[in-house]
Amino acid sequence: MKILKKFFKKQMFHDITGFNCGISLAGPPLMTAWCFLADGILIDTGIRHLREHISDAIEKEHVTGILVTHHHEDHSGNAAILKRKKNVPVTGHSLTAKILKNKFRIKPYQHLIWGKSEPVMIEPFAGVIESESLRFLPIHTPGHSEDHTVYLEETRGMLFSGDLYLGEKIKFFRADENFEDQLRSLEHVLNYDFNMLFCAHNPVMENGKEKLTAKYRFLVEFYGKVKDLRGKGCSTKEIIRKLDRKNDRTVKLITLNNACFANMARSAIKFADKELSI
Ligand SMILES: [Fe+2]
Repeated sequence: MKILKKFFKKQMFHDITGFNCGISLAGPPLMTAWCFLADGILIDTGIRHLREHISDAIEKEHVTGILVTHHHEDHSGNAAILKRKKNVPVTGHSLTAKILKNKFRIKPYQHLIWGKSEPVMIEPFAGVIESESLRFLPIHTPGHSEDHTVYLEETRGMLFSGDLYLGEKIKFFRADENFEDQLRSLEHVLNYDFNMLFCAHNPVMENGKEKLTAKYRFLVEFYGKVKDLRGKGCSTKEIIRKLDRKNDRTVKLITLNNACFANMARSAIKFADKELSI
């Protein structure tokens, strides 16, 4: 597929290097993805459509290992090529390893925006991953995907959060996201201390923990409304109609309903039904 315009930016966040990549069909790039290089450890690998840019940028860098937060193609897109290029191990959750050892199916919009990941052999982590001066603690955080994992850099309180954050007031879920698991994962991560939040789509350098807390509160509040309506006997359709702020329309259209508000509501309703024993 002919990509009209490629977008690539390198940006320093103190001594952490960020690489942002995406493609644009017209206007600003569509949902760009960040990967970060911290003391020789690359966290996530960017999108495959930008493999030459990422590969050239990483060529000049000192890299001793690669960590992957989850299998999605905007995170694992260049794991295989960078592993070959730098001859370093790629590490991730055992579920990520299982998925990425083979090709996995993606939808047309994912082909268009990010491109398909090449299979790669990943070593499942068995504890803290150490670089020369940093320590990365993997924390399994299912919900966005079953294999989703964040890496907490313990010495300086930096959280490499993959897609756990994204924003405070999120507008949509993918069809395979799990609301209950996301709440539990956020609760779990918020027990740790950190400040800088290296989100793969929206990095936050100050007050990262407050930002993640705000997202958690937003989801709890949303869930309260869903549970209340369900408890009053509302159908799934009625709940979606009552709570829909209708600001997911562009994403819904591009993804052909794979990412939309209704998915977020349906997953929350499933959790409410479990708690209400419906
Ligand atoms: Fe993702």
